[in-house]
Amino acid sequence: MGFKADVSAIPLLLLLAFSIQAQSTVFDVTKYGANEDITEALSLAWKEACASTNPTKILIPKGTYLLGRVTLKGECKAPIELQVEGTLKAPIDPSSLGDSWVTFAYIDRLTLSGGGTFDGQGQVAWSMNNCGKNKNCMQLPISLRFNFITNGIVQGVTSLNSKNFHINVMGCKNLTFQHLTVTAPGDSRNTDGIHIGSSSEINIVDTNIGTGDDCVSIGFGSKQIKVTGVTCGPGHGISVGSLGKYPDEAPVSGIFVRNCTITGSDNGVRIKTWPALFGGIASDMHFEDIIMNNVRNPIIIDQTYCPWNQCNLQAPSRVRITNVSFKNIRGTSATPEAVHISCSSGIPCEIVELCDIDLAYNGTDGPAKSLCTNVKPILTGKLNPLGC
Ligand SMILES: *[C@@H]1O[C@H](CO)[C@@H](O)[C@H](O)[C@H]1NC(C)=O
Ligand SMILES: *[C@@H]1O[C@H](CO)[C@@H](O)[C@H](O)[C@H]1NC(C)=O
Ligand SMILES: *[C@@H]1O[C@H](CO)[C@@H](O)[C@H](O)[C@H]1NC(C)=O
Ligand SMILES: *[C@@H]1O[C@H](CO)[C@@H](O)[C@H](O)[C@H]1NC(C)=O
Repeated sequence: MGFKADVSAIPLLLLLAFSIQAQSTVFDVTKYGANEDITEALSLAWKEACASTNPTKILIPKGTYLLGRVTLKGECKAPIELQVEGTLKAPIDPSSLGDSWVTFAYIDRLTLSGGGTFDGQGQVAWSMNNCGKNKNCMQLPISLRFNFITNGIVQGVTSLNSKNFHINVMGCKNLTFQHLTVTAPGDSRNTDGIHIGSSSEINIVDTNIGTGDDCVSIGFGSKQIKVTGVTCGPGHGISVGSLGKYPDEAPVSGIFVRNCTITGSDNGVRIKTWPALFGGIASDMHFEDIIMNNVRNPIIIDQTYCPWNQCNLQAPSRVRITNVSFKNIRGTSATPEAVHISCSSGIPCEIVELCDIDLAYNGTDGPAKSLCTNVKPILTGKLNPLGC
């Protein structure tokens, strides 16, 4: 009898030991009292995982869950991964969220992965956006915020129908976004795909973005930003700016946009600054190997950017733009003005290079043309339209 009991106890002990070890590294939110709404379960799991001195993973398994406003905060004691396999749905009513839905903050070595979806359920909120007319309009929540993240990777997840920006990056260093899908209708207001500000060494790689505003926008204080293998459209293209709206904006430098395809969007690659207002510097910005499909303004520098006519167009922009190149940019333009470089009359652009441009106007009223002011571009290679 005793002998028999001993034998059966061995696998049980092994099993127990194994499951204890497994629990110390993987935190499954459904084990934290998650039901349909996982807001609290995720916060609890995060707290425990973040306190662990071993690398940890928090798992949100396949399934559909409601998630309210959460802030997942460091500093954590070891690398931490959030693996989202399920679909997370934001509350439809934006009023419970304030300015953000899911925020990651102060984390070193964060990974967000899993193939799941962050569904912002923005359809109702888009119609509430009246910021064009009302400067003190309600701030709608951004779906995913990355604040002060270092050495992180965000991969293989989807952001769907955000109420405001899909993804906002602030104060981060060495953060890579890869194989993401970012989707909202072309007419959804202010749904920028990925906005970067005050950050360095940010990479956006092999990502599909189709949304209602800029696919990627790069704001002040951005340095060493690489955007490669991005497909964009619908949307407003890949933009640096807008710059010069606020006092003391930190410079933008080292922007590399390469091997991207932009389809059916308002703009292709763009640098935009406000007229009058404040000074700033934007330098070392390079756009290379880009395909445009029926894009309204494939190549554009606009130093009179003034949406909703809220500004004094008489005074020139005070932002200095220097060392910009557009190389090997091919495809079709949906307007005759395929190249539009409109620099500040106060501070003309310096060192702007156009090389191997081949953009055909997809229309019948004449060939594609270039329009340039306050700039003497350096022209090399084959140019269609001819340089200014
Ligand atoms: C950037 O972050 C990645 C991911 O954590 C890491 O593998 C890499 O070593 C970091 N690079 C630098 C220069 O620290
Ligand atoms: C260019 O981007 C596409 C994705 O749009 C990717 O599949 C391809 O590998 C990239 N090519 C290079 C040379 O990086
Ligand atoms: C232009 O930018 C590139 C890339 O950052 C840099 O290597 C180069 O030195 C810059 N040229 C000038 C004249 O500043
Ligand atoms: C030209 O424009 C038409 C109408 O907008 C569109 O259907 C077609 O796909 C465009 N062709 C190219 C090559 O972009």
